[in-house]
Amino acid sequence: MKKHIHLGYDLSWTHLDGRWRTPGSWSHTQFPDIRMYEEIAGIAERGLLDFIFFGDGSGIPNTWAGSIDAAVQWGIGWPRQDMSPFIAAMSRNTRHIGFGLTYSSTFMHPFYVARLLNSLDHVTNGRIAFNVITSTRRADAMNYGFDELMDHAERYERMEEFVDVCKALWASVAPDAFKWDRETGFVADPSKVKAIHHAGKFFKVEGPLSCVPSPQGRPVLVQAGASPRGIKGSARVADYVFALSPGLEKQVKHRQELDKALVAEGRDPESVGMFWDVVLIVEESAQEAKRRYERLLMTAVPADGIGAFLSHQIGYDLSRLPERFTIEEINAEITASNASPVGFLNITRALDPKKEMSRSEFYDQMMHHTSSHDQVVYGTPDKVADYLEEIFVATGEKGGFMIAHPPATPRDLLNVVDFLVPELQRRGRYRTEYTGRTLKENLSN
Ligand SMILES: Cc1cc2nc3c(=O)[nH]c(=O)nc-3n(C[C@H](O)[C@H](O)[C@H](O)COP(=O)(O)O)c2cc1C
Repeated sequence: MKKHIHLGYDLSWTHLDGRWRTPGSWSHTQFPDIRMYEEIAGIAERGLLDFIFFGDGSGIPNTWAGSIDAAVQWGIGWPRQDMSPFIAAMSRNTRHIGFGLTYSSTFMHPFYVARLLNSLDHVTNGRIAFNVITSTRRADAMNYGFDELMDHAERYERMEEFVDVCKALWASVAPDAFKWDRETGFVADPSKVKAIHHAGKFFKVEGPLSCVPSPQGRPVLVQAGASPRGIKGSARVADYVFALSPGLEKQVKHRQELDKALVAEGRDPESVGMFWDVVLIVEESAQEAKRRYERLLMTAVPADGIGAFLSHQIGYDLSRLPERFTIEEINAEITASNASPVGFLNITRALDPKKEMSRSEFYDQMMHHTSSHDQVVYGTPDKVADYLEEIFVATGEKGGFMIAHPPATPRDLLNVVDFLVPELQRRGRYRTEYTGRTLKENLSN
């Protein structure tokens, strides 16, 4: 039997950066109306997707010219809710679809997050995945008592300790500890509830977790490190790794680097799947797909919002760009300023790093990135399925794809469910029913 491709659908951006007003988005309601999310969860479950995903960033982008004004005006990276109660609501209308939720190990406390995710795993009956991020933005840091973002390597060190603490907490109450014996009044066996006595560099947590063990025991753990330190971190903690799709060659290399890092951690590379971030426009006809692709440049972020969008993405104030520069020079400055270099190199990958350009040439090019125009794979279901299958096979047939930055939701989700999924099923590459009880089980089938 062919290995199945698994699919997630990223909802982090559907109401941001101009997407909320593109044709095919809701026109009768607005973020954060819970009815939008209930509708999505139902459609995703009809399409037998593995999960819907919520990324996060908790600060309003303020990198551009040191101000939130442009972001506020054009809806760049804001507004964002804490999606945990939304997930609880969506889980009541569905039975199988999983939910990926993001919290930052740089700002949050592991006891709080471990307890919250345990409770969500109960409410959803075992359908929670936790995307643990180290965060790349100063705007977020400033809401949690920091003046500056912690150093990149230190953030990863903290992330590893954060996950160690969470895992210890999730294991601190044995699955069979609770008796709830009405006759005697005996609630839980003290010998099966153990303190963790954690005292590390970043956290001091006594434990145990003050909760009933959840259906999955712990959430599915996802991490998206892409730098060498990030890949080492994801190899240490992740059940699944999220990664960008910068082209097949680089994806194969990323998979090889992850495999090497997994072996160094004493883990089996076969046990860790990857979800490649892909931006898709799937339509029944090639003409319609092309028409929507071309339209992206006209309907995305207004020009004034592009600088705010990009500066937020890379954590560096692009309003300070000189009149003329090369990508290589700017990248060196970004690296020195402690922002993630991976982000900048990725968004400028279509440009020659050594070629000098003017500021206006740069922004013209960057509209392609801001609107996802430079990342979209568009076409008929069979063309898109060919693309996905090629990556899936070349990278070891483990995991699948995160359908990210959809130009218009619910339209693009409906197109995935009604056109792409049947094509993948016809090829024997996609489930025809959910067979597991939990998200963890569905992901491994
Ligand atoms: C699919 C995917 C989802 C991500 N979600 C978030 C997110 O919600 N919030 C965030 O701050 N970073 C997010 N990231 C960024 C990564 O956590 C990571 O910082 C980035 O890939 C750069 O790698 P590095 O930290 O090793 O430099 C995501 C990345 C990918 C590929």
